[in-house]
Amino acid sequence: MGPGSGFCVLVLWRPLFASSPWPETGQAGSAGDQSDCKALLHGLYGTGFQELKVPNPELRLFLSLEREVDLVELERITTAVGWHQRPLRRVRRALRHSLLVVGLWSHDPLLPRLVGFARCIGDGVINATVWDVVVHPAYQGAGLGQGLMTFVVQQLKAMGVESITLFADPGVIRFYQNQGWELEPKDQRCCFWYAC
Ligand SMILES: CC(C)(COP(=O)(O)OP(=O)(O)OC[C@H]1O[C@@H](n2cnc3c(N)ncnc32)[C@H](O)[C@@H]1OP(=O)(O)O)[C@@H](O)C(=O)NCCC(=O)NCCS
Repeated sequence: MGPGSGFCVLVLWRPLFASSPWPETGQAGSAGDQSDCKALLHGLYGTGFQELKVPNPELRLFLSLEREVDLVELERITTAVGWHQRPLRRVRRALRHSLLVVGLWSHDPLLPRLVGFARCIGDGVINATVWDVVVHPAYQGAGLGQGLMTFVVQQLKAMGVESITLFADPGVIRFYQNQGWELEPKDQRCCFWYAC
């Protein structure tokens, strides 16, 4: 979730999917549009990138852990969904200290555009928390948000993380519940401290 109020806590205690609807990590896509060679995709998106399919065959979208996120582009997306702006220097530090930073890129061999984002903080062993899950409004409703979350969970599972939490805005709870997340707290087990 992003900055906001009145959010709810969701926890992922068990494996989400028996099998993923998405291609395996590092695959360069279908036999369709293969004009970009795998080396080019690796150069743009690093190792472990993943392609998400959308109904429009002319559009290619890639999840990347390694392509550096442009903070101004990220702000363009978060502003488009109505989140308040944060000072970019603080966002830069937050990303630097995150356990996982995932960009969703609309592919262009010259200049990919950031259209989605998520990040996680945590110890990388026992606990992780997902933050700032967002898909640009122009790209919503095509399964990308779910693909982004599936990828995030895959990465954390690969690290061996035991439990994953996130803080969902009330209007998005069902989005997560449909993917297997459980709503907490059952007995007000969560505590929060805010700087202001
Ligand atoms: C929430 C968000 C990431 C979803 O991204 P998306 O790409 O539109 O979602 P998807 O297309 O993958 O949707 C997957 C499923 O969830 C459903 N869904 C999407 N947004 C939903 C919502 N807000 N509430 C309930 N269900 C939702 C879709 O209808 C779809 O259902 P289906 O599989 O039955 O068709 C996106 O709407 C967004 O960025 N919102 C603004 C920022 C935000 O609120 N982030 C979450 C903070 S906690």
